[in-house]
Amino acid sequence: MENTTLTLDTLSRPIKDLRISVTDRCNFRCTYCMPKEVFNADYKFLHREQLLSFEEITRVSKIFASLGVRKIRLTGGEPLLRKNLPTLVRQLANIDSIEDISLTTNGVLLSEVLAVELKEAGLKRVTISLDTLDDATFRLISDVDVNVEQVLQAIGHAESAGLTPVKINTVVKNGINESSILPMARYFHGSGKILRFIEYMDVGHTNHWKMDEVFSAADIIREIRKEFDLTPVDANYQGEVAKRWRYQDGGGEIGVISSVTQPFCQNCTRARLSAEGKLYTCLFATQGRDLRHLLREGADDKYIADVIGSVWAKRADRYSEIRTSETALLPKVEMSYIGG
Ligand code: GTP
Ligand code: 5AD
Ligand code: SF4
Ligand code: SF4
Repeated sequence: MENTTLTLDTLSRPIKDLRISVTDRCNFRCTYCMPKEVFNADYKFLHREQLLSFEEITRVSKIFASLGVRKIRLTGGEPLLRKNLPTLVRQLANIDSIEDISLTTNGVLLSEVLAVELKEAGLKRVTISLDTLDDATFRLISDVDVNVEQVLQAIGHAESAGLTPVKINTVVKNGINESSILPMARYFHGSGKILRFIEYMDVGHTNHWKMDEVFSAADIIREIRKEFDLTPVDANYQGEVAKRWRYQDGGGEIGVISSVTQPFCQNCTRARLSAEGKLYTCLFATQGRDLRHLLREGADDKYIADVIGSVWAKRADRYSEIRTSETALLPKVEMSYIGG
């Protein structure tokens, strides 16, 4: 698996990032992601034997690396619900060409000890989701008995363990938490943490997304500029999802992820692997390619690499650029399943 063959899709985009969902379960029920009325006791979550094992994830990640992947992000659902996650991180960190391993979490399970174990295993950084500092709004959104303070503690644990820069993801939903934008900006200003505001997206189909629930990137920036001077900053790397802005007073930077009003498909180099081993080439996909049966039925690495390469070579995804009120109704896979 030493030689890297550059595989390009139909829009000349290479495959560079792999987002791996390690579980479709979550201890939160955010209304925009896993609404309780759908994700209840009757919901058919994946069974243990359906999940890829750590060995299977590592093997397939090596194959992705041979095709050009350099960055891995572990997601879910809530990835920290998967037991012994540091073991998986250690295995992935041993893949030579993987330069960056990160994790997206809601933070509640990120204890001081676990943060250190993850760091020692080779995790580079963590992104923690937090949509507001107000407990009542937090409970309204996440629909769970957790206080904002618990998430703030997790952010502290990530920072102390050196899982930096710690990024904070804030989804903004019109009419729900736009009044949290400025308090969040004030709180993280000058803290060294990178706050990123995300436009509410039509991922999946259980959240019944509507365009008028989107609080646009332009409005987010306008809101912050009521109090802070901001200047745009160049992307860290080609294809970076967040548009960066710097506080002129030296208070650090923020990001805005504008998938709805300013799509960024042109540079999208991300592949997604579901917890049961299906490969998806877009966050808004309706179908994926099953790799698990290849892993379990004796296919060799070269064959699996050819399958992944041929899926990527046929890729034409640019969903956010062609989104309409009709496409929003398509039976897209859920974010908790495909990974955020
Ligand atoms: P780094 O730049 O490596 O720190 O990570 P990132 O910004 O790509 O990762 P993160 O998982 O924090 O992405 C932030 C959010 O942007 C995700 O949770 C999604 O909501 C959204 N996002 C990420 N990738 C895509 C994508 O390919 N398409 C769309 N539409 N949204 C995405
Ligand atoms: N729109 C935008 N962001 C979303 N997330 C989950 N569902 C949505 C949605 N419908 C965010 C989470 C988390 C990341 C994984 O994706 O808040 O930060
Ligand atoms: Fe869980 Fe994250 Fe989805 Fe909320 S957004 S339900 S924390 S996976
Ligand atoms: Fe990539 Fe699909 Fe998101 Fe466009 S909509 S940036 S193709 S994942």
